[in-house]
Amino acid sequence: MKIVGTRIREEPATFRTAMATAGIALGSSREGRWIVERACAVSSDALLKILDDAVPESVSEAVDLMVARRLAGEPLQYVLGAWDFRGIELLVDRRVLIPRPETEQVVDVVLTELAKSAGPSAPVVLVDLGTGSGAIALSVALEGASDASRVRGDVRDRLEVWATDLSADALDVARSNLALLASSNAAAARRVRVGQGTWYDSLPRKLVGRVNLVVSNPPYVSEAEWQVLDPQVRDYEPRMALVPGSTGIEAIEQVVSGAPEWLAPGGTLVCELAPAQAAIAAGLAEGAGMVDVTVRHDLAGKLRVLVARKRL
Ligand SMILES: C[S@@+](CC[C@H](N)C(=O)[O-])C[C@H]1O[C@@H](n2cnc3c(N)ncnc32)[C@H](O)[C@@H]1O
Repeated sequence: MKIVGTRIREEPATFRTAMATAGIALGSSREGRWIVERACAVSSDALLKILDDAVPESVSEAVDLMVARRLAGEPLQYVLGAWDFRGIELLVDRRVLIPRPETEQVVDVVLTELAKSAGPSAPVVLVDLGTGSGAIALSVALEGASDASRVRGDVRDRLEVWATDLSADALDVARSNLALLASSNAAAARRVRVGQGTWYDSLPRKLVGRVNLVVSNPPYVSEAEWQVLDPQVRDYEPRMALVPGSTGIEAIEQVVSGAPEWLAPGGTLVCELAPAQAAIAAGLAEGAGMVDVTVRHDLAGKLRVLVARKRL
């Protein structure tokens, strides 16, 4: 505020003060900075250069709106409209689940399995069932095909990644993310195909018995767990992405039971789950005739990723 003659004039907000004000309102200076960055669509580095510039009215209004949404309980990722997953900026909104850190580890498992692949000259087909924002499919298409990956060159060149979901809304988001990937890495994006339908019904029948790797992070929350979930999750994320049915195991059952039909001999299933489901899921995989069945831990030490192979 400045005294000009007898009048008191409000100083226009600068980016520095806008960040501070948003940070105080939210109790997090980091969130305040991210929201201002997003509202003015600049990177952190670019923002540092304009800290003492006046904030345009339109940016102020956008910041106020985002802070209000956040204060009402909306997850930060939806408020920002984008979130980082293994270095890819994914568009996220209420049509898709917010990609989680545990799922970044699922991609690690997939890349390790792909690194073991070798063999005939047929395409290497990977399917991501329940792709949501496209997090798993797009990161595998990008990282699996990069020179820096441990995946063999001949496998990388033949990689074909299917991103499928039952939700048309989720697939719209996945397609937008695929278009963004295409603008930065057209070769990686060309490896991705999109399909709609329930689990394996989303795939063309010509892939029966020819899929090298099935990966899925299916919904795995039970009806009873959903009732007491954190409201930030329950009230904002799509119920369909969280709850497959009353027990929570229904989608895992479908993904596991369909795997032997769709996988090529020696092909691998990688499926995220809740720790309490590990024994049941491993039993389902064994019951379906799969071998080398293990459940891997996540970084928090919790059982999280079922890995099973179709017999050669
Ligand atoms: C837990 S979310 C996972 C999203 C994304 N793969 C990730 O890891 O962030 C589960 C996804 O499964 C999809 N889904 C739910 N029921 C399905 C079904 N019957 N067939 C195919 N996809 C389904 C949901 O729409 C949602 O996108």
